[in-house]
Amino acid sequence: MLLETTREENPLRKGMERERSPEPCVMVIFGASGDLTSRKLLPAIYNLAREHYLPSGFSLVGFARTSMSNEQFRQQMFEAVQEFSRTQPVSQPVWESFSQGIFYHAADYNDPAAYEKLVEFLIQLDRERGTMGNRVFYLATPPGVYSTIIQQLGISGLAKPASNDSWVRIIIEKPFGRDLESAHALNQLASQVFTEDQIYRIDHYLGKETVQNILVFRFANGIFEPIWNRRYIDHVQITVSETIGMEGRGSYYDESGAIRDMVQNHMMQLLSLICMEPPIAMGANAVRDEKVKVLHAVRPIQPDEVLDFTVRGQYGPGVIGGKQVPGYRQEKGIKPNSTTETYVAIKFFVDNWRWAGVPFYLRSGKRLPKRVSEVAIQFKQAPLLLFKNSRMAGLDPNVLALRIQPDEGISLKFGAKIPGQTIQILPVNMDFRYGSSFGVEPPDAYERLLLDCMLGEATLFTRSDEVEVAWDFVTRILKGWQQHPPEDFPNYPAGSWGPERASQFIETDGRTWRRP
Ligand SMILES: NC(=O)c1ccc[n+]([C@@H]2O[C@H](COP(=O)([O-])OP(=O)(O)OC[C@H]3O[C@@H](n4cnc5c(N)ncnc54)[C@H](OP(=O)(O)O)[C@@H]3O)[C@@H](O)[C@H]2O)c1
Repeated sequence: MLLETTREENPLRKGMERERSPEPCVMVIFGASGDLTSRKLLPAIYNLAREHYLPSGFSLVGFARTSMSNEQFRQQMFEAVQEFSRTQPVSQPVWESFSQGIFYHAADYNDPAAYEKLVEFLIQLDRERGTMGNRVFYLATPPGVYSTIIQQLGISGLAKPASNDSWVRIIIEKPFGRDLESAHALNQLASQVFTEDQIYRIDHYLGKETVQNILVFRFANGIFEPIWNRRYIDHVQITVSETIGMEGRGSYYDESGAIRDMVQNHMMQLLSLICMEPPIAMGANAVRDEKVKVLHAVRPIQPDEVLDFTVRGQYGPGVIGGKQVPGYRQEKGIKPNSTTETYVAIKFFVDNWRWAGVPFYLRSGKRLPKRVSEVAIQFKQAPLLLFKNSRMAGLDPNVLALRIQPDEGISLKFGAKIPGQTIQILPVNMDFRYGSSFGVEPPDAYERLLLDCMLGEATLFTRSDEVEVAWDFVTRILKGWQQHPPEDFPNYPAGSWGPERASQFIETDGRTWRRP
């Protein structure tokens, strides 16, 4: 084990995090009858309540069209927590106290009268539960409804704080637009109604402990930063692979595809954290300024270059975990002749002083053999003249792998001498594992992010310029793909590591994809 932390040293166990206590507030979730609310939001808020992070009087108002009473909504949310909470069983005392603050407002998203009623109800909650005029609005509807809700929040006056002492914030779910133009339009609309510091664009990857640890790993340790540049690094691979197929989300995915679903948001975020310069503080703007600089330094892939710098794939039928699974075009909600990509690999460069000349290889796909998210930094090969007569069982270059999920941790691969009378070298790993080193279960990403929003801490949310630069990069690729429709889809069987061309793509550069 590379790193061991004793129970006494562990700050989480000392309860230092309890200092994070937000002011009383109400959270209004639009689309509260939906999947995200049940699967992620309610379990996260319940766990915050259970761990005493929620402010006194915290209240939750579900807003959606489905007709339900407060009691029915509470029951639905209780079942959601029972099914999806990371902590089980559900604590009855916590639930009873927490559920008294849960309410439901059945209405149309475009009905001005519904918002007037909401205003009255929120004022009533301020009086009865002491929520002090502080509000978080959460957009958890399909993205097509976001602009209607934002406009109505503006018209009804709900977007403006009621007094100098109160605050109003809005959390906007992904996808934030489907290309540069639509993302820009949504930013424009949001900025007419809210100020930038009221807007929290959520990317749940940034709530993951392992993603936040990238900054700690790089900037709280003295030994990595000096070698974190083009002089020592050969290339970087970022992989986000999934074993699942559509899981009932086919109609959403068919409009999106791998590049919109994964690359524009999660993977560009990982890239910017890996590549950024040290910020001057951990504050929201200092960190985001540095992230945006990285995205600006990414060399754009022009539409006529897409075939050289990207590979698209779509899975056909195959076998995953010993089970036969259908191809993408046979999944529910997918057009039988769909040309949506379920796999993407991209090569690009970050043209700044730190990274010039270092290729970055990104890949993401569905129905791949393993679920894994990782960033692998491969260092340059050492000169091996000294060992030219030794047996080197495939002495690979050093690789530092940051495992985001699952089996969260960090490993460093290096060559070691096999015990014996001769010099024989074998690659071995130094390994840090979150689970065994800290012995505590990390909070879910949504717990961290919801709490941060209530605290007014925006570092882990994306800023308008960040979203647009990332979309600019992706939109050029999408335009190029439109000009070159795929001719060979489906081009990889479910359960394989993607299309054959993806291997050739990296092998032409004398490198290979890692097998995580
Ligand atoms: N589910 C996830 O795990 C997940 C993960 C990341 C991001 N997201 C994002 O979070 C948002 C919500 O996701 P979700 O899975 O909860 O969506 P959902 O279940 O499809 O929709 C949420 C609610 O919105 C309302 N709604 C659905 N279609 C609508 C339409 N065409 N017009 C108006 N209202 C409609 C429905 O409530 P009423 O009919 O009662 O009004 C529905 O219960 C989406 O933008 C999604 O991309 C979801």
